Amino acid sequence: MTPKTKVIVIESPTNPLLAVVDIEKIAQFAREKQVTTIIDNTFATPVNQTPLELRIDIVVHSGTKYLGGHSDLCCGMVVCSHEKMEKILSLARVLGPSLDSRICYLLERSMKTLVLRVNEQTKNAMVVAQFLSDHPDIANVYYPGLDNFEGYEIAKHQMTGFGGMLSFEIKDKDPNRFVEELKIISPAVSLGGVESTICSPTLTSHVKMSAGERLRIGVTDSLLRLSIGLEDADDLKQDLDNALKKVPDINQVK
Ligand SMILES: Cc1ncc(COP(=O)(O)O)c(C=O)c1O
Repeated sequence: MTPKTKVIVIESPTNPLLAVVDIEKIAQFAREKQVTTIIDNTFATPVNQTPLELRIDIVVHSGTKYLGGHSDLCCGMVVCSHEKMEKILSLARVLGPSLDSRICYLLERSMKTLVLRVNEQTKNAMVVAQFLSDHPDIANVYYPGLDNFEGYEIAKHQMTGFGGMLSFEIKDKDPNRFVEELKIISPAVSLGGVESTICSPTLTSHVKMSAGERLRIGVTDSLLRLSIGLEDADDLKQDLDNALKKVPDINQVK
């Protein structure tokens, strides 16, 4: 914060390490300082987290992800008071972005199943996170629903479900070879679709950072981010286990 600060922008849980921010605390602090708060609620979804109730001013979503839910549209969403929305809309009218009717149609149709999809993805993610936590080839699992995760208590307080996103680090195996061996989970940069997808933050979202900068924020080369879909949780566990078994230990590769 400096005397010039006008907005605090947060994300919770964050991409890709699922760090949990105490939303209510930030909102209260910002109100005392008369600073506007914005949260990116994409990972949590409106099903699992409602930041306006925690006194955040403006909530944004990548509608491309869970709201669309089928990896076939690109849009965004802003949720706030009428007063703030008027200002945003008047700027939007000047700048000119508007969705075409096909995307509106797909989005409206998808939103009808948002709750069902996210509840199932949340359930599946918990099963997969627990499975990975117990797996000997996995070093760390980042999921707010695990009771030994740093943000668990805050997440339990401010979320109604822990969401469908998780990340993990593989021990002593090439993460890219592991991704190639997966049969059900597809490599893809986007997230929140009905199909499970996986990506390496080092090679995608964080590729423009230096290796040192990535390490400083905890994004290692063995980190993989998994977006859980609607497949059977046992199939997902088996896919992950089979792929881990197929990739040799780095120490054994000449
Ligand atoms: C958390 C989060 N917010 C926003 C965005 C931007 O979304 P869009 O692709 O709809 O511009 C992304 C994209 O990956 C994201 O992961």
